[in-house]
Amino acid sequence: MTLQIAPSILAADFANLEAEIARIPNADWVHVDVMDNHFVPNLTIGLPVVEALLGKTELPVDCHLMIDEPDRWAPGYAEAGADSVTFHIEAAAAPIRLARELRRLGARAGIALKPATPVEQLADLLPELDLLLVMTVEPGFGGQSFLDVCLPKVRRARELVTKSGLDIWIQVDGGVSEETIERCADAGADVFVAGSAVYDADDAVQAIDDLRRLAAEAG
Ligand code: DX5
Ligand code: ZN
Repeated sequence: MTLQIAPSILAADFANLEAEIARIPNADWVHVDVMDNHFVPNLTIGLPVVEALLGKTELPVDCHLMIDEPDRWAPGYAEAGADSVTFHIEAAAAPIRLARELRRLGARAGIALKPATPVEQLADLLPELDLLLVMTVEPGFGGQSFLDVCLPKVRRARELVTKSGLDIWIQVDGGVSEETIERCADAGADVFVAGSAVYDADDAVQAIDDLRRLAAEAG
């Protein structure tokens, strides 16, 4: 299992995104939080900005869509060239059809779960997925406290994936820091989104290295 760090630019300076992405050359992914003010009570960036960023970085781009009607909007991110597109199961009308469409367009397909959404409902959908995102805060804002109550779900997600024999990544997102990443790795996560823990650090490269080392020691 390869451990990957995906800094979230939600915690970056939105007026200087190109420079902010240049601060994380040792990241595995750039995590982009798309919010629509409907699915979550916050509005961030959308497809035009993602398109612009794709032209400015060599790093693969991981779009986390916290939006209503992903069936309608998510394929556009894959078409634009996003390497991974994750939509929320709570918002999707036809998740199997959408995951297949994302893969057909060349993206990795991910499904995200809010803290109160059980993972078991995805058991039969696993062959359609490349990534399972277990949210460890209520989606909508960076800088929130990590919810330990979500860790048993990470564990159950790992059990389901192991039982399936499929190579599906388990991503955690929300409150992931030097204090919490070991618990996430121990529960079975292998992709770690970190916003404030990376972007609030003076040295983002060092912060990523530290997170990676702590996860490797625990996992
Ligand atoms: C929250 C977003 C996260 C957020 C993480 O809704 O999906 O990606 O940016 O930020 P931190 O790491 O600060 O909790
Ligand atoms: Zn996110």
